Amino acid sequence: MTDQPDAAAEFDTSVPQTARIWNYWLGGKDNFAVDRQVGDQIKQAFPDIEDNARASRGFLVRSVSYVTAEAGIRQFLDVGTGLPTADNTHEVAQRLAPESKIVYVDFDPLVLVHARALLTSSKEGETQYIDADGRNSAKVLGEAAKTLDFSQPIALIMSGILGHITDDEQATTMVRAYVDALAPGSFFIALDGSHSIEHGEAEKIWNEQANPPYVLRSHTQFAPFFDGLELVEPGVTSAPLWRPATPDPKRLDVVCGVARKP
Ligand SMILES: C[S@@+](CC[C@H](N)C(=O)[O-])C[C@H]1O[C@@H](n2cnc3c(N)ncnc32)[C@H](O)[C@@H]1O
Repeated sequence: MTDQPDAAAEFDTSVPQTARIWNYWLGGKDNFAVDRQVGDQIKQAFPDIEDNARASRGFLVRSVSYVTAEAGIRQFLDVGTGLPTADNTHEVAQRLAPESKIVYVDFDPLVLVHARALLTSSKEGETQYIDADGRNSAKVLGEAAKTLDFSQPIALIMSGILGHITDDEQATTMVRAYVDALAPGSFFIALDGSHSIEHGEAEKIWNEQANPPYVLRSHTQFAPFFDGLELVEPGVTSAPLWRPATPDPKRLDVVCGVARKP
């Protein structure tokens, strides 16, 4: 099985990069011709991809709102942040609780360039950005502890990153390392692309051309990331179906869940 390179790819506009392709599908402007080209190719093979990107953001907004408003969470660790777009984690959390503290983590050089847009905290709260490989949990946790109090509950967010950790064992080890560091009452919010035949073709195009590689996991393969945690209703499901925003949500190939650490 292919896996990610050891470090982030250089800031290279000739190699399509995940954060920029995702930004393109979300309707953003922080992308280059190579990103749009592979983004369009995938869109042709898998026309739902833009809906998936928007549904992922919708889930992020609803899940962050849920843990902030209903569970009283005021600290967030968002690993695999992506390029700033509308409704970044700190904007959603601080709208409801301005004192919220958010630490963002990504290893894409362009995300680092745009990180200023993520650091627009409310004056009562705080936002920080860590430029690091999320697989290096020791480094990330050490840096994050300068802002977040790990003796208190934290919402750990991994949205669209676990698919890039293509080896199941490595992905599980990574999740465990973070979850083990969290206090009881913390939450784990996770989302990724999942299976369908068309999506399989999109995965093939992605892995031939874009960086880093991506693996699609079925709901059954994704659910064990929440082992040892209490899943919040409705459990592991398609993103639009998680506490839906509309009465008749369309099921998409995006798997997600929210769980509480007992
Ligand atoms: C598909 S985007 C998702 C962005 C955002 N979380 C969202 O849901 O809209 C995946 C992001 O994860 C980042 N990423 C992938 N592997 C990573 C790693 N090992 N460490 C840190 N960031 C990583 C990419 O650079 C990219 O910004």
